Amino acid sequence: MTLYEEVKKRAFEVLSHAYAPYSGFCVGACIAMKDGSFITGANIENASYGLTNCAERSAVFAAYSQGYRKEDIVAMAVVTKAAKLTTPCGACRQVLSELLQPDTPVILSNGNQEKITCMRELLPFSFGEEDISQENNVC
Ligand code: THU
Repeated sequence: MTLYEEVKKRAFEVLSHAYAPYSGFCVGACIAMKDGSFITGANIENASYGLTNCAERSAVFAAYSQGYRKEDIVAMAVVTKAAKLTTPCGACRQVLSELLQPDTPVILSNGNQEKITCMRELLPFSFGEEDISQENNVC
């Protein structure tokens, strides 16, 4: 099994752990690390809808919480069983653009369709730490 197949497979496995009683829309994510490990995440909803955590953020926050950083990440998969291929929401694009390297492969799959992209493509002209650096401060 290739690395891309394995990261997708694990993302599909974690779909069953999604907590999505409000939307019924389950998403799984998996991050493959340089050291050969994998870290997964699922979407976790809340009755206060805005507090929902998407699968992508669950996975990347778990990876960072274990001490990994963007340089350690080789690929990420985001999967659903939806008819239409799902792409990360705007909030996740902002978070992932800081926590993944711009060209790290992001594999999107619904089992039928697949797209391999990256944060540079998903969030061009992104706002990041360099924008709020002291040198760029104008107030
Ligand atoms: N969701 C994700 O987990 N990732 C995405 O890329 C899109 C949306 C979740 C959030 C919410 O629990 C449900 O899908 C419906 O929006």
